[in-house]
Amino acid sequence: MSIEPFDLNGRDRRNGAKLAVEHLSKSFGSGTSAVQALAPLDLSVRTGDFLCVVGPSGCGKTTLLNIVGGFERPTSGRALIDDRPITKPGRERGVVFQQGALFNWMSVVENVAFGPRSCGVPAEKARQHARELLEMVGLAGFAHRYPYELSGGMQQRVGIARALANDPEILLMDEPFAALDQQTRELLQEEIRGIWRRTGKTILWITHSIEEALFLATHIVVMTARPGRVKAAFRSRFSESPDPLIAATPEFTAAKRQIVELLRSESQRAQSLEATV
Ligand SMILES: Nc1ncnc2c1ncn2[C@@H]1O[C@H](COP(=O)(O)OP(=O)(O)OP(=O)(O)O)[C@@H](O)[C@H]1O
Ligand SMILES: [Mg+2]
Repeated sequence: MSIEPFDLNGRDRRNGAKLAVEHLSKSFGSGTSAVQALAPLDLSVRTGDFLCVVGPSGCGKTTLLNIVGGFERPTSGRALIDDRPITKPGRERGVVFQQGALFNWMSVVENVAFGPRSCGVPAEKARQHARELLEMVGLAGFAHRYPYELSGGMQQRVGIARALANDPEILLMDEPFAALDQQTRELLQEEIRGIWRRTGKTILWITHSIEEALFLATHIVVMTARPGRVKAAFRSRFSESPDPLIAATPEFTAAKRQIVELLRSESQRAQSLEATV
């Protein structure tokens, strides 16, 4: 078992892609203070793919996710879902932001139930489902607390439950496990993998953790330093393994090393870029 180079761009983008990104670029600001976050970037994600994106800090990962989420407009190019250009957020996309975006004036259970309730699901039914999701992310005892009473990692877990509550076709996750301790992270990784296997959802997952990408992804994209573009893409099969200790195998370590090496030069370049801003 290993990772193989994979030509995401070579896929027939318009044929069967759940999510496609075509020559997408994004710049912030103008004139001498302009920052080009994304270089023209192409991606094609099929239904049921679990695409993990890794790349150095500041390379445009959140920018990409915000464009696909419909929160930002690209400078050029476009992103499409089921062949339709994305212009705004939509219920078929569930987003977990890098920094918690919970409603501080609502209890945890109301935060999770909010989406379904605003679509007409009766209050008690929405709350019941919310409680089940909170149990799944290990927060059953916190349903009636408020987000500001929770740690950063707990807030992230509420964010995941809230995204799942709408039963979206596509999950867009921006480093959802970054604030979690290793044990919780591993438990939730298995939970997410189970959800993905059971539901066949399409997932775009941003992470700094190469192990996480190898453990979860069907495809891995390594981005360059800013302006972000695809440096390399892989098909990964580790996520198909039933072995819970797959990360301890020599094949896994070799794959990790391959990605670490690709990322190292980009991270150095990113650091020197940030030093000049
Ligand atoms: N709203 C904005 N206005 C101006 N510049 C921005 C804005 N959002 C992002 N940028 C810049 O665009 C670049 C990419 O930012 P982005 O947040 O997408 O990076 P990232 O890959 O998610 O980084 P990290 O891994 O640290 O989360 C950075 O140089 C950042 O300063
Ligand atoms: Mg980010």
